Amino acid sequence: MSTQPPPNGDLPTAGARRTGPPEDAAQERRPVTVIGLGLMGSALAAAFLRGGHPTTVWNRSPEKADPLVARGAVRAASVADAVAAAPLVVVCVTGHDAVVDVIDAGRTALPGKVLVNLASGSSRQARALADRTAALGGHCLDGAILATPDGIGDPDAVILYGGPQAVFRAHAPALAALGGGATYLGADPGIPSLYEVALLDIMWTSLTGVLHAMALVGTEGIAATEFAPFAAMLYTGVGSFVPRYAQQIADGKYPADDSTLGTHLAGIRHLTEESGDRAVDARLPLYVQGLMERAVARGQAGDSFARLVEQFAPPENRGPSAR
Ligand SMILES: NC(=O)c1ccc[n+]([C@@H]2O[C@H](COP(=O)([O-])OP(=O)(O)OC[C@H]3O[C@@H](n4cnc5c(N)ncnc54)[C@H](OP(=O)(O)O)[C@@H]3O)[C@@H](O)[C@H]2O)c1
Repeated sequence: MSTQPPPNGDLPTAGARRTGPPEDAAQERRPVTVIGLGLMGSALAAAFLRGGHPTTVWNRSPEKADPLVARGAVRAASVADAVAAAPLVVVCVTGHDAVVDVIDAGRTALPGKVLVNLASGSSRQARALADRTAALGGHCLDGAILATPDGIGDPDAVILYGGPQAVFRAHAPALAALGGGATYLGADPGIPSLYEVALLDIMWTSLTGVLHAMALVGTEGIAATEFAPFAAMLYTGVGSFVPRYAQQIADGKYPADDSTLGTHLAGIRHLTEESGDRAVDARLPLYVQGLMERAVARGQAGDSFARLVEQFAPPENRGPSAR
C-alpha cells in the first residue's frame, strides 16, 4: 500500500531533517542493523545500503542475507551480534511473537540500543514491546510502514513512528533513508499500529465493495476489466468525501450538503434488490443498509452519511440517539 503522508502539523519528520546542517550528512551514514530479511526487511536493508549506511543484517534463514552481503552488508552470526553492531536496530519479522523472540535472543546486547520495530501488530502489542525493551535497558520506537517493499526509500514512502521524541530526533536522519515521509506521531508507541490497522480497515472494507460490485456486473457477462475504469473513477472521487466527513465528525454536526441518509437508504435498497435478483451474496450491502435503517429509525434521515460513524463507537461514547 502506498499513500501520501497524513497532515502532521508541526510533528517532526525524518525527511525534514535531511535539509539540516552539514554534520547531518555524517549522521545520515551511521551504522544500522536490520533483523528480518523477508520481503520488507530486505527492502529496508537495501535502502540503508543505498543511503551509504554501514549495514549489518541477520535473518533466521541465513541465505536470505546473501544478496545484501553481495551489496556490502555485513552478516551477523547471531541476533546478539547483530544488535551489538549498531546503535540503531531495525526489526522487521512476521509479527509480535517473532519480534519478542528476536528481542529475547539479543537481550544481552540491548542496553543502550534503539530498537525500531517495523513489524505489524496491534497498539497493545506495540506498547508491551516498548515496555519489554525498556526493561532490558533499550529504547523503542515503534513504526508502521505505509508502503510496499518496492516503495521503500522513495521520497513519498510513509513510515509512521511513535516513541520518545528525543530518540526519534536523534535517529531521524538515518530513518530518512527508508522514506522521505517518515512521520513522528508522538511519544505513545502504540499509535502508529493504531493508524496502520485503521488504514487497512479502509483498504479491506472498501476493496471488498469493489469486489462485490465486480461480481454483480459479472453476472451480466461484463468483464471486471471493462468495469474497472468506472470503479477507479468512483474510488478516486470517494476520497474527496474524507476531509468533509472528518470535519463533520469533529464538529458532531452532520449537514447533508451532498445527499441525505434517506436518499442513501433508497439507493442501497436498489443494490440489495439487484444482488438478490442475480443470486449475488447480498450480506455486505445488507449490513450497510441495516446501519442506514437504524439511523433513519432514530430520526436521522435528513443527516449526511457521516452520521453512521456513531453506530461504530463503543457504547459509552455513543450519543443517546445511537445507543
Ligand atoms: N510486505 C509488505 O508489503 C509490508 C508492508 C507493511 C508492513 N509489513 C510488515 O512487515 C513485517 C514483515 O513482512 P514481510 O513482507 O517482510 O514478511 P515475510 O517476507 O514473510 O518475512 C518474514 C520474516 O520474518 C522472519 N521470521 C518469522 N518468524 C520469525 C521468528 N520467530 N524469529 C525470527 N525471524 C522470524 C522470517 O525469517 P525466515 O526467512 O527465516 O522465515 C522473515 O525474515 C510484517 O509484520 C508485515 O506486516 C509488510
